Amino acid sequence: MSATDDLWPFLPGRKSLKIVAAQGATLVTDDGREILDLAGGAIAVNVGHGRAEVARAIAAEAERLTYVVPPWATPSREQLVSRLRQSWLPPSLNRAYFASGGSEANETAMKVAVQHFASRGLPRKSKIIGRELSYHGTTLATTGLGGHAARRIGLEAVLQDHPRAPTPYPLRAPTDWPADQLGRCYADALEAVIDAEGPETVAAVMAEPIVGSSGGALIPPEDYWPRIRALCDRHDILLIFDEVMTGFGRTGRRFACEHWDLAPDLLVAGKGLAGGYAPIGGLFASDAVLEPIAASGGEVMFHTFGAHPAACAAADAVLAILEREELVARSAALGVKLSGWLNDAFADHPHVAESRGCGLLQAIEVVADRETLEPFPQIAGVTRKIVAAGLERGIYAYWGGTGVIRDIVCLGPPFTITEAELQRGVAILRDAVDAALAGLRR
Ligand SMILES: Cc1ncc(COP(=O)(O)O)c(C=O)c1O
Repeated sequence: MSATDDLWPFLPGRKSLKIVAAQGATLVTDDGREILDLAGGAIAVNVGHGRAEVARAIAAEAERLTYVVPPWATPSREQLVSRLRQSWLPPSLNRAYFASGGSEANETAMKVAVQHFASRGLPRKSKIIGRELSYHGTTLATTGLGGHAARRIGLEAVLQDHPRAPTPYPLRAPTDWPADQLGRCYADALEAVIDAEGPETVAAVMAEPIVGSSGGALIPPEDYWPRIRALCDRHDILLIFDEVMTGFGRTGRRFACEHWDLAPDLLVAGKGLAGGYAPIGGLFASDAVLEPIAASGGEVMFHTFGAHPAACAAADAVLAILEREELVARSAALGVKLSGWLNDAFADHPHVAESRGCGLLQAIEVVADRETLEPFPQIAGVTRKIVAAGLERGIYAYWGGTGVIRDIVCLGPPFTITEAELQRGVAILRDAVDAALAGLRR
């Protein structure tokens, strides 16, 4: 028993790995084993582990300034905001708010959407529509909005109900929808939810433009987001994109919204903003969204540790590396290779329904029956077994999926991972899938 066994992990009886060092895409355990980090932690580490220049930026800022209340300016805040404006954000999103992570930033986006309409004298316009397969965070409000069945267990009594529309899922689309019109069909389904609620009661639609781990890198049909953008404009509904996982190059563009050449009204980011070096989440909005709140004397309350100077310094240093080393382009190019390797490894696998994704956010979906897409029974714990088999063989992949769609393994490595490492990782993943499924196969 180690000295921390009665304190950590939080839930009694659970075991955790102990990592004592990390460099590039490699984690080192306390017993000296190396693990290839195919998930960048929680799909956050984009510039790789062990970047001394980021560590130095954090240390320098911490020496200069301990803490300053979030609404005030500091040099590191100004520097980060100016870099975001100049090189990263859609031009329409010219206001920034920083929280300590994705959940806080998403919850603030929900509040801002509701405050926006209340400030305009439209308090009935207060509903936020989510989607069935989604994850927006761990607070009660974001858990209530999200469609992550496993993370709602035991909380149902206190979660607020939000209307939800189906998440575009081409592999599992209703069979009576024409395959070449899925974008329209899914957009119609969302419109039907808006109509049923009454557009005059809907403040916002909130969604991940490419679904992260809950659905496993689900990319919607090409025309889906343009249709939803137009639908929201038509009904004076704010479109909130949760780009906590997809932001800052993860899908091969700065933000996933660039794949469709459109901008949301509110954009939320986290994870990759500081590449895992510091806790920070961002909410970016347009003047049009915020002016009514300011004009009516409203406030958007800060979190004590929002925009922490050291976290802003970390984010600025990480974004500088992404720019200097052209890592967003690398994420796109390496993503194409990764898709090919996953396809080679799994296209003929009897229990992998498909591999999918883009950039360095990709996933495989494991099923009992490839024809009917029936999953393995929940009790079989297939995803957990695959992740464990991977760890035994020296790779760390991220568990995804939830509810009925439960066996999804996601890959989200640092953008700096070498081709050889990534290719080796895919081969080990194939091995891990086979080992985990041995004995379960029908
Ligand atoms: C899409 C998405 N939104 C929100 C969150 C929550 O972010 P955080 O864990 O930083 O609070 C996550 C975390 O996995 C996420 O993937």
